[in-house]
Amino acid sequence: MQGRVLVTGGLGFIGSELSRRLLALGSTSHLTIVDNLSSTILDYSDLEGHAEIVIDDMRNIDETRHFDEIYHLASPVGSVGILQHSGKIAGDIIGLAEKAARLAEAGGSRLLYVSSSEVYGRDGSHDEAVAQMVPCRRGPRMEYALGKLTAEHLLLNRAAARDLDLRIVRPFNAIGEWQSAGLGFVVPRFFEAGLKGEPLTVYGDGQQRRSFCHVSDIAGGIISVQERGLANEVYNVGNRDNITTILQLADRIRSLCGRGSPVQFVDPTELFGPAYIEAFDKIPDVGKAADHTGWTPQLSLEDALDRIHHHYRSRRDVAAVV
Ligand SMILES: NC(=O)c1ccc[n+]([C@@H]2O[C@H](COP(=O)([O-])OP(=O)(O)OC[C@H]3O[C@@H](n4cnc5c(N)ncnc54)[C@H](O)[C@@H]3O)[C@@H](O)[C@H]2O)c1
Repeated sequence: MQGRVLVTGGLGFIGSELSRRLLALGSTSHLTIVDNLSSTILDYSDLEGHAEIVIDDMRNIDETRHFDEIYHLASPVGSVGILQHSGKIAGDIIGLAEKAARLAEAGGSRLLYVSSSEVYGRDGSHDEAVAQMVPCRRGPRMEYALGKLTAEHLLLNRAAARDLDLRIVRPFNAIGEWQSAGLGFVVPRFFEAGLKGEPLTVYGDGQQRRSFCHVSDIAGGIISVQERGLANEVYNVGNRDNITTILQLADRIRSLCGRGSPVQFVDPTELFGPAYIEAFDKIPDVGKAADHTGWTPQLSLEDALDRIHHHYRSRRDVAAVV
């Protein structure tokens, strides 16, 4: 599809990759990015001059503006990031989703909502057909999961009742070169420690499993669902070939960094307080996205970690300490 495209949260980790890819694919004649720079600020100089970049809260976008497509990613994010927004995460997520819906309804836009694997709320292999039930343990992580799930329902209900052209994606554990350690993401945390020869802190016993997916594959999946996914459907996007325990991940990154960092097992509630809740094992079933859109993830965990390692090595700020 070609036309006027809006990406909310488009200067963030996934949003900036998505924006670059939309431009590279020629999928937009006019790209507008809105981002209030509330998360870690990435270098987006390469997007300047190619996209209209609006540094503002997306709630301030004029609702008379017309976009053919909207990708809505703006959200509080990250296990540490959401602790900082505790008490207003769900309100923010739902309010921002409502704003995206109003923009899409007013402009007749196709809306792609980026939800989260957190809506599954429990261990296991997850496909979209199962009835979702997040466990109602009290805490910021659940506020995030419930906010995302409520936003999904709000949008699906609006799409059923009104003229809203909607698709939803649930990403599973994105990783990539520009991900922020500051928001609590494990891969950049491990690289930053490993390249300095410092201990890699593993939460609990490190046996929790994740299935990491490179951000280029996540962005490709999001665009495929927007272009070829069915209306009012929900799609997992992730890579189930990249399953690892956190301890195995630490070992891989330690050997890539080669600085002899030890692993240090820590209780995360001692670091972040009792409100911290560990994520459940998250393994995606991505058969539906593959069947409906033809999309499949490409990058193995090994290749993704090699790319990230190379990126860190070539960054001056890290080079100064290694
Ligand atoms: N990173 C992951 O593994 C992952 C997994 C599942 C879902 N997601 C979802 O993907 C989306 C993008 O996540 P990310 O990892 O790129 O995080 P990110 O923090 O890098 O990106 C989010 C962006 O949204 C912006 N933003 C937040 N509130 C805003 C507002 N009110 N107005 C305008 N901009 C605002 C932030 O400044 C940031 O640039 C989020 O919706 C997140 O919930 C991410």
